[in-house]
Amino acid sequence: MTLFQGTGVTVRYGAVKALTDVDITLEPGVVHGVIGPNGAGKSTFIDALSGRTRMTSGTVLLEGEDITNRPVGWRRHHGVSRSFQRTSVFNSMTVRTQLEMVAWRNDEPDLDGLMATLGLEPVLDQVCNEIAYGTQRSVDLAMALIGSPRVVLLDEPCAGLVADESVRMLQHVRDLCKDRGVAALLVEHDVDGVFRTCDRITVLNLGTVLASGEPAEIRANPDVVRAYLGSAA
Ligand SMILES: Nc1ncnc2c1ncn2[C@@H]1O[C@H](COP(=O)(O)OP(=O)(O)OP(=O)(O)O)[C@@H](O)[C@H]1O
Ligand SMILES: [Mg+2]
Repeated sequence: MTLFQGTGVTVRYGAVKALTDVDITLEPGVVHGVIGPNGAGKSTFIDALSGRTRMTSGTVLLEGEDITNRPVGWRRHHGVSRSFQRTSVFNSMTVRTQLEMVAWRNDEPDLDGLMATLGLEPVLDQVCNEIAYGTQRSVDLAMALIGSPRVVLLDEPCAGLVADESVRMLQHVRDLCKDRGVAALLVEHDVDGVFRTCDRITVLNLGTVLASGEPAEIRANPDVVRAYLGSAA
């Protein structure tokens, strides 16, 4: 059975059609990339799947159960986690306090192990706004992974990172997904990173699916090259 499924996901903001009839299925241990130009609807898609934004129409299933009307907190508690495009650390807290707070709300059996995997041990006692931006993004990822979610929806974890940080971040995402059997949806603009990291890719354009498939198919798709990849392909 598919672990997580969005079907016919449609979101309108007044007259703006942010998403129209978008489908996705996420499986354990599979990294599914979602790419597309600015304004394509990627963040809206994560907002809809995580329960933050109410869908105009469509269905979200978790292990076959219809969770379309379940609120964000319920979904998080039942293993559907997300991260945000902008960093969401609390600036005035230490990294340790920030992570312990999230771990307290979402049972995490091995917080020390998670922090070690993400290389956060040296900064645990530093205040979040005093650590490097790249490390803040790792704290964001740690927060999304606390509580052993089965599904993680990651909105541009590499936004603002320099090249080698970006490579490390995507390697962490892929390793954690494979090691923990997590179903990951990865929104990212770093095209090379997406092709390196993802097992499947869906391309959004103007709120609709332009193409969906394995990285090699997507890279070779003329519509995708025209609309998004251009010379980056
Ligand atoms: N709260 C909102 N109210 C009205 N329109 C919105 C709202 N949020 C997003 N939109 C619009 O919906 C469309 C999709 O936006 P969204 O942020 O999902 O795109 P995106 O693919 O994440 O873009 P980016 O790559 O820049 O992050 C855009 O036209 C945007 O202006
Ligand atoms: Mg976005």
